[in-house]
Amino acid sequence: MKPLDLDVFPCRSDNFGVLVHCPESGVTASIDAPELDAIVAAAERRGWKITHIFTTHHHGDHVEANLALKEKYGCEIIGPREEALAIPGLDQAVADGDSFDFGGHTVRVIETPGHTAGHVCYHLPDDKLLFAADTLFALGCGRLFERPATDMWHSLQKLAALPDETAVYFGHEYTLSNARFALTIDPENERLKTRAAEIEAKRQKGEFTIPTTIGLEKETNPFLRAADPSIRRNLLMEGSSDEEVFAEIRKRKDHF
Ligand SMILES: [Fe+2]
Repeated sequence: MKPLDLDVFPCRSDNFGVLVHCPESGVTASIDAPELDAIVAAAERRGWKITHIFTTHHHGDHVEANLALKEKYGCEIIGPREEALAIPGLDQAVADGDSFDFGGHTVRVIETPGHTAGHVCYHLPDDKLLFAADTLFALGCGRLFERPATDMWHSLQKLAALPDETAVYFGHEYTLSNARFALTIDPENERLKTRAAEIEAKRQKGEFTIPTTIGLEKETNPFLRAADPSIRRNLLMEGSSDEEVFAEIRKRKDHF
């Protein structure tokens, strides 16, 4: 089976658009639908016809172009059952553990409540791809709008359990701010220091930091590292639970 082709492009102020295309079957999925014009331009540049939208959650900057894309392409919209009423044009509601076929490629649904109550990520195990939207960012995680820190911690643990080499496509270019914050939590982490310097250089050149990998995030993302002894020592939380340490890191980032 030929590998999937991906096209990643900026949308709105800091969202990413991602198109995933199967060269054998011809199907093309838009990961969320942040901005009609940018998505159509990318599809036309590639000569791809959008057949699916994989919706991760109901926020406007992820569903805004759902109906317009559906009208233009007749595409099928797949999205979280927990948020079904808030997803414009939803055709197929999915929940944790569901899997479906995308042009011969298996897509698994992972529910990751936290940022919203029903947020889902899409995992393509054979292609080693994860579309994590606003649950897991490079060196960050989504803000907790609809569920408590404990839920988000458990959601992130599900993603951290995926193979290290899994490529992670996330919803926003927040990486530079995330890197600066991560250094305040985990200042002795050599791998993080190196990565932060690379990110500074990339962003100065106007380059994007997408994708990342599960392995790299486990080594450097403080939101996945609440169990790390040196982070716990820095936060004076050696006797606390992982959930409590995670909640403290998330709270500090909210005020960073
Ligand atoms: Fe969001």
